[in-house]
Amino acid sequence: MKVLVTGGAGFIGSHFARLALKKRYKVVVVDKLTYAGDLERIKNILDDISFYKCDILNKEFLEHIFEKEKVNIVVHFAAESHVDRSILEPGLFLKTNILGTHTLLEVVKNKGIDLFINISTDEIYGDIKKGENRAFKETDPLKPSSPYSSSKASQDLLAQSYYRTYNLPIITIRPSNNYGPWQYPEKFIPVVILKAIKGEKIPIYGTGENEREWLYVEDCAQGVLAAIEKGKIGKVYNLGSGKTYKNIDVAKYILSYLDKIYPRKDGKSYLEQITFVKDRPGHDFKYFLNSSKAKKELNWEAKTSFEEGIKKTIDWYLNNLNWLENKLHELQKFWEEVY
Ligand SMILES: NC(=O)c1ccc[n+]([C@@H]2O[C@H](COP(=O)([O-])OP(=O)(O)OC[C@H]3O[C@@H](n4cnc5c(N)ncnc54)[C@H](O)[C@@H]3O)[C@@H](O)[C@H]2O)c1
Repeated sequence: MKVLVTGGAGFIGSHFARLALKKRYKVVVVDKLTYAGDLERIKNILDDISFYKCDILNKEFLEHIFEKEKVNIVVHFAAESHVDRSILEPGLFLKTNILGTHTLLEVVKNKGIDLFINISTDEIYGDIKKGENRAFKETDPLKPSSPYSSSKASQDLLAQSYYRTYNLPIITIRPSNNYGPWQYPEKFIPVVILKAIKGEKIPIYGTGENEREWLYVEDCAQGVLAAIEKGKIGKVYNLGSGKTYKNIDVAKYILSYLDKIYPRKDGKSYLEQITFVKDRPGHDFKYFLNSSKAKKELNWEAKTSFEEGIKKTIDWYLNNLNWLENKLHELQKFWEEVY
């Protein structure tokens, strides 16, 4: 079986491409290599896969790839994925996430395919308010809050409409917040690690009370694979770890671990670098998924505890400081605008 992974040079897509190859799928990666894409992530498998630097908005090039590669399955990760950037530049998010997905769906409709896995997100449900005790089910209404999540909600619904209208074999996956090795250091967990070891202020939005359901990236990749192998066409599956953590607690956990294994030269604690900054506009308070359907129908559940996953993640970043440093100058301008 041949699987085409869009956004396979990105954070989650690269982990999935590696897993698929390990599971003996033939792998084709299509990626535009935006600031968020990096071939370094898949350097160790590049000789064993086919790679195309291609924008998912480029219909002709996509058609050529589908004709040449004759793929059976598409897993669609490619997206603009950072909420803060979507606040600064919403149009790009609508273009990539909605029109890009539309282009891809049109190509798939014309060329034929056995399965299309559409990667959506937990953020499309909107947030759970402070004091509310609930978890979102796949049947809950979509109430996205940011330009990012509304573009993903549109992508999610568009793909589902292609199932209803054109009978395209689509499965929708809605994962919770991922973390792990190779995440671009503009996202919360690598930002905390990077700023800590650079001796800079560690920005925490608002009071740090916002909660996220952290899912280790390899567990997410396993969930996507389970959907390919056991999922039912037309269905939607939430993928969450079942545990939420406040941002401030995540930061404190990371910094206390760094204090032990990578202490500051002045003997002080990294905790002193925490700085509370003006909250993100429209900041969602909490995300939490009910993932019982994935457990029942895909026989999937997250295997990695937060404590285990976060240690593996921090160790990885400390062993790959060069990669982290290289991303720094790209990020400096963006940080100046946002924080
Ligand atoms: N990271 C998370 O916590 C999370 C959680 C739930 C869902 N998701 C979804 O999972 C997917 C992957 O997320 P990620 O964190 O790996 O994102 P990422 O930003 O790390 O990677 C996105 C990849 O898509 C590529 N890309 C962007 N625009 C493209 C275009 N026009 N054509 C081709 N390639 C393009 C980029 O070059 C990059 O390699 C996204 O769809 C995202 O919405 C992410």
